[in-house]
Amino acid sequence: MDTLIDFADHFNHRAVVLGAGTMGAGIAETFVAAGWHVDLVDPSDEQRAAAAGRVAEAGGSGTLNPVVSVEALEPAGFVVESVPENPTLKASVLAQAERVLQPELLCSNTSSLSIGELQLALERPEHFLGMHFFQPVPKTRLIELITTAATSEHSLELARACTIGLGRKPVVVKDSPGFATSRLGVAIGLEAMRMVEEGIATAEDIDDGMILGYQHGVGPLRMTDMVGLDVRLAISEHLAATLGPRFEPPALLRQMVARGELGRKTGRGFFHWPETV
Ligand SMILES: NC(=O)c1ccc[n+]([C@@H]2O[C@H](COP(=O)([O-])OP(=O)(O)OC[C@H]3O[C@@H](n4cnc5c(N)ncnc54)[C@H](O)[C@@H]3O)[C@@H](O)[C@H]2O)c1
Repeated sequence: MDTLIDFADHFNHRAVVLGAGTMGAGIAETFVAAGWHVDLVDPSDEQRAAAAGRVAEAGGSGTLNPVVSVEALEPAGFVVESVPENPTLKASVLAQAERVLQPELLCSNTSSLSIGELQLALERPEHFLGMHFFQPVPKTRLIELITTAATSEHSLELARACTIGLGRKPVVVKDSPGFATSRLGVAIGLEAMRMVEEGIATAEDIDDGMILGYQHGVGPLRMTDMVGLDVRLAISEHLAATLGPRFEPPALLRQMVARGELGRKTGRGFFHWPETV
């Protein structure tokens, strides 16, 4: 394995991040903390402002340039897409980024969508792979890399070098619905929701069971709140369609999303998050 590439030097310490939500802001924060210049693209004024505030608060020797559209940017070598988990939207955002920015390495932070299908939207699929970050991005030590037969070895080596350069451990997974982490993480999260739905135990007790009994760092329901119930719903719908009905979202998840109880980002999910409202 070639880990000699100095990823930061290779890309002149510049990254473009598409989407300034929970994850995009966290990815931008991580690169700015490592001294990079990050162009952060999001059409929402509110999201760009919130992300800029978050990055400024975290500090770092890098710089952040929040912009409305990739059309405003010069070509860039390294691009990470982190827009909502919608295949049509992602395909069009990735195709536009490829056309305008001409990146050497184009990555998607999708949690579950097929990298192979997203590649179909691209003219140069060999430059594309999944680079799956975890919450909270600045603290989590793992990055899951997802490749297809069309992904070049060079792209994978660059992505590995990026991961190691950020002080993270890469795990490399073949393209498959939910990859390794979302497939297992969502399975346990959905089962925990069904237990709440059936009145088996409280959310707190179910989480404590996994933390204290099984040595999980965070319980499955608190993790669902951190990820966002809307994000978890989109992933489970995709996994149910691709892997089968065992991933069918429980009615409780749909009801909570319909009520706007999306977890930490709205202040309420399976737990209360008063600091975010
Ligand atoms: N939430 C998690 O814990 C988590 C973890 C790993 C991966 N992911 C994945 O990361 C991606 C983003 O998730 P999130 O939780 O940050 O979602 P989010 O809803 O918090 O953020 C998405 C952002 O994308 C922006 N956006 C919409 N259209 C855009 C466009 N055309 N160009 C640029 N930006 C656009 C939205 O305004 C929003 O700010 C999804 O694919 C999700 O599955 C999420």
